[in-house]
Amino acid sequence: MRLVARAHGVAVPREHFLSADASPDELPDFFPALLKPNQADGSVGITQDAVVRSRDEARRYLRWLRETLPGRDVLVQEYLPGPEYGIGLVGNPAHGLLALPALEVDFSRLPERLAPILSFESKAIPDSPYWTEIRFARAALAPDVEARLVDWSEWLFRRLGLRDYARFDFRTSAGGEIALLEVNPNPAWANDGKLAFMAGFAGIAYRDLLRAILDAALARVGA
Ligand SMILES: Nc1ncnc2c1ncn2[C@@H]1O[C@H](COP(=O)(O)OP(=O)(O)O)[C@@H](O)[C@H]1O
Ligand SMILES: [Mg+2]
Repeated sequence: MRLVARAHGVAVPREHFLSADASPDELPDFFPALLKPNQADGSVGITQDAVVRSRDEARRYLRWLRETLPGRDVLVQEYLPGPEYGIGLVGNPAHGLLALPALEVDFSRLPERLAPILSFESKAIPDSPYWTEIRFARAALAPDVEARLVDWSEWLFRRLGLRDYARFDFRTSAGGEIALLEVNPNPAWANDGKLAFMAGFAGIAYRDLLRAILDAALARVGA
């Protein structure tokens, strides 16, 4: 996904791939970095300690990852510390793609000692500040910047052969550049998920979001 995106001029974070059997000596030495399993979902393997600022911290987190999720390859990415955005698309290229208003993750209430990321705690540990203190808001992006993120997302939707709905996650680098973090071909469509929030920003009720996804699928299959 990163290579396809980069070929189209979409910025992506610097990344190093560490295979499951690689020696910890192969850890790169750019910091701050974020370590995560290459094969996982729902922030499994991305805890509050995933953001590392030194070789020692990186080795410690790698050891923990390998104990907890044995046999997984690991991605070491440049940590992007700036605002995090989501772009939601519903539909299909042949029948029209609807771009929902961009979402921004509001980390401002999170205690400063915690790295601002949508960690595993934010998705699975209800009494963690990651769960209680993070909000989703309508992004305050300049219209041309939001339009560029939507363009990139639509292009990736086609290029990667996605269907019916998808969510594209971006985050801003230390230098202020917005880079693609992740393409979600089947993002959560729960009523408290990002996609439902985005629909809400557009005044689209939850049931109508679900209907739009189903209509997109039916139109595609019917065609
Ligand atoms: N390179 C990175 N820089 C900054 N934050 C990151 C980076 N990678 C992941 N994150 C944070 O971790 C969260 C989950 O990571 P992600 O790669 O999207 O995994 P998942 O598939 O589990 O959602 C992101 O929403 C973001 O907050
Ligand atoms: Mg994600």
